[in-house]
Amino acid sequence: MTAGTISARVRLGEEGFAQLLGVDPSTLPPACGAALAVADLRYEVLCDRERDAQLLTALRGSEAEDLRPSGPHRAADWERGWSENLRELDRAASHDVLIPKYNKYDVLRLMGDYVRVRDRRFEYAVYTALRHWCFERWFRDCSAVTEFGCGTGTSLLQLAETMPHLELTGCDWAPSSQAILERLSARCDRRIEPIRFDMFHPDTSVTLGAGVGVLTSAAMEQLGHDHVAFLDYLVAQRPQVAVHIEPIYELYDDSVLFDEVARRYHRHRNYLSGFLPRLRQLAQAGVIELLAERRTGFGSFFHEGYSVVVWRPASGPTSGAPA
Ligand SMILES: C[S@@+](CC[C@H](N)C(=O)[O-])C[C@H]1O[C@@H](n2cnc3c(N)ncnc32)[C@H](O)[C@@H]1O
Repeated sequence: MTAGTISARVRLGEEGFAQLLGVDPSTLPPACGAALAVADLRYEVLCDRERDAQLLTALRGSEAEDLRPSGPHRAADWERGWSENLRELDRAASHDVLIPKYNKYDVLRLMGDYVRVRDRRFEYAVYTALRHWCFERWFRDCSAVTEFGCGTGTSLLQLAETMPHLELTGCDWAPSSQAILERLSARCDRRIEPIRFDMFHPDTSVTLGAGVGVLTSAAMEQLGHDHVAFLDYLVAQRPQVAVHIEPIYELYDDSVLFDEVARRYHRHRNYLSGFLPRLRQLAQAGVIELLAERRTGFGSFFHEGYSVVVWRPASGPTSGAPA
């Protein structure tokens, strides 16, 4: 996509969005179009020196001293962040206050380029459309959805709006997330069951039952290498389907500078790694079926958090996870 010295001014329409997913635009559910319509999706591709400047900023930013790696020590940070959103929710009629504050960049990653967007709501609009697409594709036939690392519950709200048949549960280690879900249940007259749950130490008394779809979205990213216990828990629960919208380290191309810059950030943040290889191993062993592993090529400034990985338990009897 990068060529020449003149920046192209373009707009991400439904066609461009469908391209990120590798699907025909005519197959997009109406909710995707509605989500994209919320923001001005015009952007400019940054070339040559402008692109170099962004690469440099991203590289330096990845090494900034105040960059905090994820891990068990971050629980209090998340609680502090979401309790701010909770306070704002109590003062506001609009659910916009639930949009995480880290959706703030005006330079984003799009199909191998840095793009400068006109509207800082761009990233969140595309993320919302992406979630609608995933939900329609994989959760329509479920009876319930449980989200892990649900934060302020924006994905559960999307599901509540578009799929009235689903029972909804939101798990997170931050108690303010449960308080937000209680408020939302009362406001929307739709029960969203809140559960305190730590993915580092999965509580096996939390059971999923038949027909349950599992969602993680920008949540397993926080587990770094330490995802084995949680994945073992999920596999043992035999969900109908598990959908993960996460930064997937192994989907970057290590021979490409643009990707190496994101890989570096990913490593410095101690984001999810080894998860996709583990799923591939489980698929090879006949324990699960890997339904999708898609790098969308869309991301925020530092990295691409919107890859999609989907699996379900293998249909026959299984002997459990291989060592
Ligand atoms: C980047 S936020 C994403 C929130 C939400 N899924 C979204 O898309 O807006 C990461 C979330 O994962 C939660 N989280 C991080 N580590 C966790 C853990 N070990 N167990 C449960 N939740 C965790 C945080 O509290 C936070 O809500």
